[in-house]
Amino acid sequence: MLRRILTYPDRRLRKVCETVDNIDDNLRALAADMLETMYEAPGIGLAAPQIGVIKRIIVLDCENGEERSANPIVMFNPEIVDSSNETNVHEEGCLSIPEEYADVTRPKSVEVRWTGGDGEERAEVFDGLWATCVQHEIDHLNGKLFIDRIGPVKRQMIIRRMNKLKRERDRK
Ligand code: NI
Repeated sequence: MLRRILTYPDRRLRKVCETVDNIDDNLRALAADMLETMYEAPGIGLAAPQIGVIKRIIVLDCENGEERSANPIVMFNPEIVDSSNETNVHEEGCLSIPEEYADVTRPKSVEVRWTGGDGEERAEVFDGLWATCVQHEIDHLNGKLFIDRIGPVKRQMIIRRMNKLKRERDRK
């Protein structure tokens, strides 16, 4: 089922999400909805608070070939356990801040530990676009957005445009 994606400045995007205790069919169905919503958008990552669910769940698929839904990953309670000193600059966007992009500097590679849909613990090192994406999505679980990681001038410009869009939506 497609879910509605919340946009900035919705306050739910600023919540620190709760740890997921017990991965049951409801949570697996939620993750499936998140993947469907992400592919439809289309995007390469989505975090549960973006659909108004304040839980530590993210989905991602950074495979950028013709074949969409090539390599979906669902992570419950993802945690960065190690990050490289070497950094990487990547232009980021966010489905909750539509049509805005900015360069963000982050560690070039990160090791992430998480629980899969089957309840199994997993760990993997991500690099390149996957590293950028998984860090961006984990930020969402802590109420953090990519605009918090850019320079103040560009940030204010994006915030002003997003607030203006909200005023226009509210008038309708
Ligand atoms: Ni985002």
